[in-house]
Amino acid sequence: MIIAIDGPAGSGKSTIAREVAQRFGFTKLDTGAMYRAVTLSALERAVDLDNEDAIDELARTIQITFPAGSGENVRIAVDGADVSEAIRTPRIDANVSKVAAYPGVRAAMLTPQRAFAEGRDVVAEGRDIGTVVFPAAEIKVFLTADPRERARRRVLQRHEGEEFAAEALEAEIAETLAAIERRDDLDSHRAAAPLVAAPDAVAIDSTAYTIDEVVARIAELIAERRGA
Ligand code: DC
Repeated sequence: MIIAIDGPAGSGKSTIAREVAQRFGFTKLDTGAMYRAVTLSALERAVDLDNEDAIDELARTIQITFPAGSGENVRIAVDGADVSEAIRTPRIDANVSKVAAYPGVRAAMLTPQRAFAEGRDVVAEGRDIGTVVFPAAEIKVFLTADPRERARRRVLQRHEGEEFAAEALEAEIAETLAAIERRDDLDSHRAAAPLVAAPDAVAIDSTAYTIDEVVARIAELIAERRGA
């Protein structure tokens, strides 16, 4: 079975996919991490991000793998080197949409994405999973949340356990909101595989729901499919 979870940055896809994977024994596939890995490789090798041909070539050449496979400890490697932490920086956040918009890069990611799902139950998260990568996925979820709420979650996650003045927090939320809106706009309006809900996706707005409530809704969808 394949569960596709698509949606904008900060809508909770990763957390929800991880919970669903743990609870139902699925393997989680984070496709955003793959575009981040291509972006990191380009920056590290000083490949000009505006040089589409060079970025396409790089995406075709590097070997992206997921060493630990499943569960909570999902790792990602490029040519054998673990990049799991290195792909989660503001510099990658700011540049990944440009790289992910290149059709050649997207084409290069399709084969490993589909190979990953061969012969196993997968919960895959991204922007085009239900529309392009796995159009025949048994369950498709389009997860959204109010942009301000998404920015708030990102900032709280970033400073988990830290003391933070309310004013500084508000300023960072505003800054993060602007960055999120910029990325949403790029991801939604690009020509190649833009962020859109598949016609047969179940839309879930997580603004007013807890993680457990969203997972419970997906559990219902799984039960429906398995019973069908
Ligand atoms: O989910 P994320 O923030 O890690 O995704 C990083 C970027 O990759 C995001 O700006 C859009 C892009 N992306 C994509 O184009 N297609 C996917 N299936 C997943 C991510």
